[in-house]
Amino acid sequence: MSAAPTAPPVGATPAPVTLTTLAGFHARGEPIVMVTAYDFPSARAADAAGVDLVLVGDSGAQVVLGHPSTVAVSVEEMLVLSRAVRRGLVTPLLVCDLPFGSYEESDAQAIATAMRFVKEAGADAVKLERGNATSVARARAIVDAGVPVMGHVGLTPQTSAALGGLRAQGKSTAAALKIVREALALQEAGCFAIVLEAIPAAVSAELVPMLEVPTIGIGAGPATDGQVLVFHDLLGIRDGAGAKFVRRYADLQEEMVAGVAAYAEDVRSRRFPGPENSYGIDEAVLTSFRAALSEL
Ligand code: KIV
Repeated sequence: MSAAPTAPPVGATPAPVTLTTLAGFHARGEPIVMVTAYDFPSARAADAAGVDLVLVGDSGAQVVLGHPSTVAVSVEEMLVLSRAVRRGLVTPLLVCDLPFGSYEESDAQAIATAMRFVKEAGADAVKLERGNATSVARARAIVDAGVPVMGHVGLTPQTSAALGGLRAQGKSTAAALKIVREALALQEAGCFAIVLEAIPAAVSAELVPMLEVPTIGIGAGPATDGQVLVFHDLLGIRDGAGAKFVRRYADLQEEMVAGVAAYAEDVRSRRFPGPENSYGIDEAVLTSFRAALSEL
């Protein structure tokens, strides 16, 4: 195994992104870039690429842990992923998803879970889903406890069963109005930003100017203040095409398969390891070693 990669020295990189930095981007109309990450290498890649926010999304349940949906992931699992991402980040703001079932029960449960992400994983902020009365109350409680909260409305995968599946939201007048009300309520509860997922671009275009906090879109059109994509979707580390809102910037799954297949072929044909992958030994030592062996 090669030597462990290390994060670059602080000072050689831009100043860490803070909530104030984000508010500045928003005020100046500068697009905000968010991407998910789930481990040290994906965090290093996001940092080196200069993104503003990194989300340890509970989408990690699917793209790294292989679950069919996000609901199964536990707080402990999310903490493991979040700590690895924290170790890889210098500049971007780190937001960690509160997994399904870790915040709905009570304000006390929500605060305790959020605190774990801050104290045990170094999260700068947490994200929770939905803008119903429960989620708004939990967001308010966590913010009051001193932890910044990002909201998330529209398609909320944790409760996709109740939404009728992973499908676009806000397509009727009532459904679009519900999203507007939820986003406004989350803002009023103190959320510093709100993710809008899988809603018509025209609904975002009406909603975004109504909000004072930045919006980060995923399948919400170009009007949002920023965009977020899942790391594995944008780099093509997956089978199949993915959602309509994904733009693929690489096909790493294909490259990974080709790389592993080439390695397997080299092992089977004894082309690997080569002399450059093997350790040498002093000739005199080898002679005495062989002599000692013959006396065994
Ligand atoms: O879990 C996740 O990756 C998310 C983003 C899609 C916003 O919540």
